[in-house]
Amino acid sequence: MDNSWFKEISVYQIWCRSFKDGNGDGIGDLYGVLEKLDYIKSLGVDAIWFSPIYPSPNADYGYDISDYTDINKEFGDLDIFKKVLNEAHKRDIKVIMDLVVNHTSDEHRWFKESSRSKDNPYRDYYIWRKGRTGGRRPNNWLSVFEGNAWEYSPETDEYYLHIFAKKQPDLNMDNPKVREEVKNIMRFWLDMGVDGFREDVITFISKKEGLPNGFPLPVATGIEHYRKGPHIHEYLREFRRDVINKYDCFVVGESPMTSWRDAVEFTSGEDRELDMMISFDHMSADCFIVDTLVLPFSLRKLKRVMGHWQHILHEKGWNALYIENHDHPRIISRYGSEKYRTESGKSLATMCFMQSGTPFIYQGQEIGMTNSSQDSMMNFKDVQTFNTSRVLKQFHIPEKTVLKIINRTSRENARTPVQWSAGKNAGFSDAEPWFPVNPNYTDINVEAQEKDPQSLLNYYRRLLKVRKENPVLIYGDFTEYYHLSGRLFCYSRSYKGKRALVICSFSKRELRFKTPKGFDLHEGELVLSSLPEAPLTTSGCVLKPYEARVYLFDFTNTGK
Ligand code: GLC
Ligand code: CA
Repeated sequence: MDNSWFKEISVYQIWCRSFKDGNGDGIGDLYGVLEKLDYIKSLGVDAIWFSPIYPSPNADYGYDISDYTDINKEFGDLDIFKKVLNEAHKRDIKVIMDLVVNHTSDEHRWFKESSRSKDNPYRDYYIWRKGRTGGRRPNNWLSVFEGNAWEYSPETDEYYLHIFAKKQPDLNMDNPKVREEVKNIMRFWLDMGVDGFREDVITFISKKEGLPNGFPLPVATGIEHYRKGPHIHEYLREFRRDVINKYDCFVVGESPMTSWRDAVEFTSGEDRELDMMISFDHMSADCFIVDTLVLPFSLRKLKRVMGHWQHILHEKGWNALYIENHDHPRIISRYGSEKYRTESGKSLATMCFMQSGTPFIYQGQEIGMTNSSQDSMMNFKDVQTFNTSRVLKQFHIPEKTVLKIINRTSRENARTPVQWSAGKNAGFSDAEPWFPVNPNYTDINVEAQEKDPQSLLNYYRRLLKVRKENPVLIYGDFTEYYHLSGRLFCYSRSYKGKRALVICSFSKRELRFKTPKGFDLHEGELVLSSLPEAPLTTSGCVLKPYEARVYLFDFTNTGK
C-alpha cells in the first residue's frame, strides 16, 4: 500500500497526563484532548501521536503497559478513545499510538503467568536465566533506569531481564508467540481505525544469543548486544509484511544509539522496516554523550549532525524531525535562550522543521514552554530522574549540584502541565495538578498567544502552512552554507526549479548576513519571517537576535 503521505504530514505529540484535565482530578485525560481537538487542528498539524494511554501502574508513566488493548482509567476508556479518534478523523487528523513492545509491565497478565513456574505456557514470553555461581547475576548488564538489568524471582529461583526499570521486564521477541501477540495488538488498533504507530525503543527488541557480558559503562552495560540485535531486521520485516503492509498506516521507530548508517538500512526501499526513525544524535549538542554531562550548546555540533542525516537519507530514507518530546528538557532552555524566548523559539522551529522530514511537535513547544526549576528532589516523580540522582551520588557529587544538574537535564521539564491560560493552574485543571505547573504560565500561555499575531504560537501556524504549501520544503534536497559559523544555520532546499533559502540566527546580537552565491534576496519571496519587518541590503541583510527568514525562489524558467 502506498503510504507516502507520511512525508507530507506533521505530527503533534500528546503526553496525556499533562495535556489537559477534562474531569477535574488534576490529571490530563482524553476528555481534555477532546476539548482541545479544534485547537490542535488550528495549528495545522495532520496527526496526533499519543504517548501510551493504556492501563499502566505508571512505573514509567505509561511506558510500562499492563494491558495493550484498553485505556488507562485515569485517561478515560475505550469509548472516549473511539470518540476522540472519530472526532480527530472528522477533522482530518490522523491518530498514531505508541507501541511499547520491548517490554511490558510486571503487572501484565503475561508476566504474572510467566513468573509462576518454569513450565507455565507464558514462561518463554520473557527472558529468564539462572544466576551464575556465587549468587552472581546471569551477566553484567546494567539497566537504563535502575542499576542491575536482572531481577531475582524467588518463585522459580531465576532472574528476569529488564533493560529499563524493574517493573519493565523485557519480552522475548525470539519467541514466535510473542511476535504473534505484537501483531495482534497492532491489528486491534489498526482495525479500530488508528493510522500507525510510534514504536518505542523498537531497535532493542532482539538480543544477542547467549547474552554475553557487555563492555562496562555507568548505565546500560550490554547495550552493544541489543542496540541493533541479530534478528532486528527480520522481526521488523515480519511486522511489516504481516500487518503494516495491509493497512494504510505508517510506523516511526524510536531508535536510541543508532547512527545515520543504520537509518538508511531501516528506512529505505519498498520493503523498508520503518518509515522513519526517531534518532538521538542531534539531541546532544549541549552535552557529552549523556545528557547529564552538560556542555555549552554548540551550534556547529548540531549542524554537523543534522547535515549528515539530511544528506544521507535524501532520496533513500526519511527523517523524523524533532527537537522536543517527553524524554528531553525543553529546547529553548537548551539550544535557545530563555531571555530571547520567542525569538529563539522561532529560530529553532524554522531551523528544524524546514529541513527534509516529517515534523513532530511536542505539546507546549508551540508556545515556547521552558524548563521549570524544582527547589527540592521531592518534587520529582520519574524513574529516570531517580536513577540519574543515584548515579551522580555514586560519583560523590554534592546534593546541591545533583539538584542543579537534574533541574537542567531531567525529562520532567517537558512533563509540566500545558499552560493554557493565565488563570488558576494555568487553565490545565480546576484541581491541584499532578505535577507542579511552571510558574511562568502567567507570561507563557496559549490564551495570550492566540491574541498576539507575532506570538510563537501563530508563528508555528504560519510555518506549518508554508511547509504544506511548498513541495520544495517537503521534497527538496539540502545544501548547507557557512557550515563553520557558530551563530548561523543557513541552508537551501531545491526541488523542480524551486529553491528555498532558510536563514536562522542563533546569535544574541545582530548578525550581518551575506547572501550565498547564486541567490539575490531581492528576487526571492519572503514566505516566512520571524519579525514583521525584514529589511534588505544589496548583498544581504542584518539579522536581529535569533531572527529567522525563509525566502522562496523560482528558477523554473531561468535555467539556473
Ligand atoms: C522510550 C520512551 C521513554 C521510556 C523508555 C522505556 O525511550 O520514549 O519515555 O521511558 O522508552 O520504555
Ligand atoms: Ca482527569
